[in-house]
Amino acid sequence: MSEFKFHAPDEYRKNAWIKTMDEYKQMYDQSIEKPEEFWTQMADQFYWEKRWDSVRDYNYSISKGPINIEWFKGGKTNITYNCLDRHLKDRGDQTALIWEGNSIGEDREISYKELYEMVCQFANVLKSKGVQKGDRVAIYMPMIPELAVTMLACARIGAIHSIVFGGFSADALSNRILDSLCKVLVTSDGVMRGAKAVPLKGNADTAMDLCEKQGHLVECCVVVNRTGSEVEMKQGRDVWWHEQIQAQSMDCPVEWMDAEDPLFILYTSGSTGTPKGVQHNVGGYMVYTGITFRYIFDYHDNDIYWCTADIGWVTGHSYIVYGPLSQGATSIMFEGVPNYPDPGRFWATVDKWKVNQFYTAPTAIRALMAQGEQWVEKYDLSSLRLLGSVGEPINPEAWKWYFKHVGKERCPIVDTWWQTETGGIMITALPYAIDQKPGSATLPFFGVNPVLLNEEGKPLEGACDGILAIQEPWPGQMRTVYNNHERFEKVYFQMFDGYYFAGDGCRRDEDGYYWITGRVDDVINVSGHRMGTAEVESALVSHKEVAEAAVIGFPHDIKGQGIYAFVTLNVSATPSDELLSQLKLHVRKEIGPIATPDIIHFAPALPKTRSGKIMRRILRKIATDEFDSLGDISTLADPEVVGSLIENHKELT
Ligand code: WTA
Repeated sequence: MSEFKFHAPDEYRKNAWIKTMDEYKQMYDQSIEKPEEFWTQMADQFYWEKRWDSVRDYNYSISKGPINIEWFKGGKTNITYNCLDRHLKDRGDQTALIWEGNSIGEDREISYKELYEMVCQFANVLKSKGVQKGDRVAIYMPMIPELAVTMLACARIGAIHSIVFGGFSADALSNRILDSLCKVLVTSDGVMRGAKAVPLKGNADTAMDLCEKQGHLVECCVVVNRTGSEVEMKQGRDVWWHEQIQAQSMDCPVEWMDAEDPLFILYTSGSTGTPKGVQHNVGGYMVYTGITFRYIFDYHDNDIYWCTADIGWVTGHSYIVYGPLSQGATSIMFEGVPNYPDPGRFWATVDKWKVNQFYTAPTAIRALMAQGEQWVEKYDLSSLRLLGSVGEPINPEAWKWYFKHVGKERCPIVDTWWQTETGGIMITALPYAIDQKPGSATLPFFGVNPVLLNEEGKPLEGACDGILAIQEPWPGQMRTVYNNHERFEKVYFQMFDGYYFAGDGCRRDEDGYYWITGRVDDVINVSGHRMGTAEVESALVSHKEVAEAAVIGFPHDIKGQGIYAFVTLNVSATPSDELLSQLKLHVRKEIGPIATPDIIHFAPALPKTRSGKIMRRILRKIATDEFDSLGDISTLADPEVVGSLIENHKELT
């Protein structure tokens, strides 16, 4: 591990919100010792129609009763009001969103006033379709302004949005619509991907048909015309966005929401079962995303901030839309991909808009690093003051490249650890106060109280290696699994009584810095996309020729982790290249392209214990070429299997 520590230049520190380590420590201690006082000060920076009665109420221990987390109870507010209406007086003409389209030269600047009008108009469309407070609205869209407009419109009238990443398949979309019984679906005709238009509405149609077969009718589907491609519009159900908004007024009253009313659902993968509907509620999420955004990205008026994530994931929800807009920021929304029209696109875009804060994922950094520095050197990146990283541990080589070639050894890097479940950033440097070490997320944000536990759940002290858990709630924490509170309790609170179990392994060094070491469960992280191995396995075994499948992650240079699938076939089937491509296609159809296995290993049998449990530990070792450390294989029902798997593996790789 590197001993290098970066201390940001004094010229930036002068204006920073938090300037020194002492300031950080003082505020951090206050946030932990007097959380109610601390979060009152923070929440007071937002507009509340009615103030809360109590700051926080909770039970974190299953042994004492149901898990319960409440913040700002009794308070009434609206997140869209805080993101738009309250800025109109002072920043109506300021740009809220900069939309950078897929093709060079295609862009749009939308002021707070314009965004407000677009949101009101679309909120009125939703109302005209019968959408009421508490109804669920599914969103399946590319990165176009209408996506942000739809979210904010839902939140304005109290409808719960459920965004499904546009790269997911029709099957995946239908499962998510069914789980929360969405009444309306908002989508587009297609998506621009590089030089091509790719259809999207067809998937939405298939998904809605699948829902209908299960007895659930999506009443209305609003379609944005993005690519101008031919689509089928079903009479009585499908309507065009541009036609619908015409008749609607640009005023729409705000629905005052209880702080603990649901704001949105976002599905995420766990180690078992189908994806969980992570539910975030209005008040706590609003305060937490706004405050973390301001301090961590050290956002000041007139800064141009860019997060390259897709809004289909939590990073886009919290740090493209809600966090930045509640702080009156100018936030860039990018429709394209990092390598179109060439691998200089990110840097060209930073140069074009004079971006001050740039937030991306290690997988993108590694992919661009592989293309060489010449793409970065072509552009003027002197506007940058801060860089960020999210989604997976950033390996020190990628960190150093980012630091040197993008940040010119001048910009701090905030490596932000968090999860869909946490709503906002949990462990991170504050850019000018906390010195950074490549590969470490550094220290907890205000109000976050992490512990490292051993396998028995005993807290470890000082420098150590353990399982990351959080004691005490923070405002941005998920409140439940939609419609399944029992699952929420089981997944996050049963493992270690009294703690939120995060699912990541972690090391703490002598300086108290945290180093995330990766998941301790069967979740893998492919290009920053979270996936349950069980989901990919069940997609594989749903193919008629497959008897059994075991999926594991293996180290991948660009993606971080790749997907390695061990597959046993039914007796009637024989392994072939054709079947291999069929299986890959099948997984794409069931889940989406991001879940496509990199390696499919046709195995004669899988290593199992005598009780029939697949020994994944052994498969993991085989996939990573660690044949000498297989451990004890004597408990296997048939130890011979291992030798043949090793032989096959060597041939494959
Ligand atoms: C991983 C994304 C190391 C981690 C915001 C976590 C990270 C999972 C980091 C959540 C980081 C995210 N360093 N690991 N900076 N950020 N992770 O729900 O394993 O898509 O549990 O949320 O990504 O992924 P999710």
